[in-house]
Amino acid sequence: MWAELDAVGRAPSGGYRRFAWTPIDRSLREWFAGAAQLRGLDVVVDRAGNQWAWWGEPDAATAAGRPGIVTGSHLDSVPDGGAFDGPLGVVSALAAIDALRQDGFTPDRPIGVVNFADEEGARFGVACAGSRLLTGVLDPDRARGLTDADGIRLGTAAAEAGLAVEHWGRDDETLRRVGGFVELHVEQGRGLIDLGAPLAVASKTWAHGRWRVDLPGEANHAGTTRLLDRRDPMLGYARLVLAARESAQRNDAVATCGKVRVHPNGVNAIPSLVTGWFDARGADPNGVLAVVAELRALAQVEGATMTEESWTAETAFDSHLRARVLDALNECDPPAGLVASEDGAPVTDRVPVLATGAGHDAGILGAAGIPTAMIFVRNPTGISHSPAEFAEREDCLIGVRGLAAVLRSLTG
Ligand code: HGY
Ligand code: MN
Ligand code: MN
Repeated sequence: MWAELDAVGRAPSGGYRRFAWTPIDRSLREWFAGAAQLRGLDVVVDRAGNQWAWWGEPDAATAAGRPGIVTGSHLDSVPDGGAFDGPLGVVSALAAIDALRQDGFTPDRPIGVVNFADEEGARFGVACAGSRLLTGVLDPDRARGLTDADGIRLGTAAAEAGLAVEHWGRDDETLRRVGGFVELHVEQGRGLIDLGAPLAVASKTWAHGRWRVDLPGEANHAGTTRLLDRRDPMLGYARLVLAARESAQRNDAVATCGKVRVHPNGVNAIPSLVTGWFDARGADPNGVLAVVAELRALAQVEGATMTEESWTAETAFDSHLRARVLDALNECDPPAGLVASEDGAPVTDRVPVLATGAGHDAGILGAAGIPTAMIFVRNPTGISHSPAEFAEREDCLIGVRGLAAVLRSLTG
């Protein structure tokens, strides 16, 4: 399965450019449907475009009070993203089902594998757009009106991909099928490297958001315009970028401005408009809010408008489900937390629990009241949203085995 995805959406950087509702996304969605059908899983696409592959009858089970257990993740990426962020969770979910079937296991409730649409928000700007539409926290009109760099609306692109975008809104029929969601994901930091462990279970996702700033200026000639006559918005933008970092440092938060658009973007023309996007997050939501408040105040001084594009409050995962997942992982044979000591002697460590600064669909479902949990697989580079993102095959297989044990425990 991994090899089948390897070339899809590959960029010259060695990373991936897999953006929502593009031909590459269509190839990924066709791959998902094919891999599911190969396993006899029934594939349904909800109104938001999320794909759900079911082993068992979800509606009958929900009616009988045994809603399904879902695993999976997303297949889209950030620009030049890594191979594992998203796809590792989808491929591991399908491989875990294969492993359960090879063991002759039959679940007592449906097992679903989901491919969430547009998790990264790389093209239209709102992260977890598929799960936010599903749970009703992304306004359908706003969603339809989101535009990409070429001015194409999300509503148009999704409609062209076959979605009934006029019916967007919270989808309780789909949500009722989900009794619990366990997302396996490559770790996007150094936690497991420093712990020397292959897997971790998530405790929470940090509060995080995205803000857009528009700084108007006055287009003029780069050579003939006197400095005192210039209204160059790039200066205000530069001050905001530096202020964001300084404020984050002071407020125990993190912030970056990873995307900027300059109009008209000419080397020898003073810009008429600079638009930048800030991403700010932190373990302490108040720290993040302090950074945002300072940025807002400076934006005003700079004559800029600052618009919140998305905000996700800190989301703690369901403690009961987390305990079930930890037990299943620790009771694996060999234990999923097994690490080798320096002299090679096996050291059985209980699987650690880690918070994450990354946002995930699991956080959106958790915020909507669905019991959710996450399993992280060690990333030896500690780098993500970059071609350098990596996970060792052995750790990935430990992840598949662990996920299979979790699914067995939750549906056996
Ligand atoms: O931005 C994030 O944290 C996630 O990768 N969407
Ligand atoms: Mn990501
Ligand atoms: Mn992800």
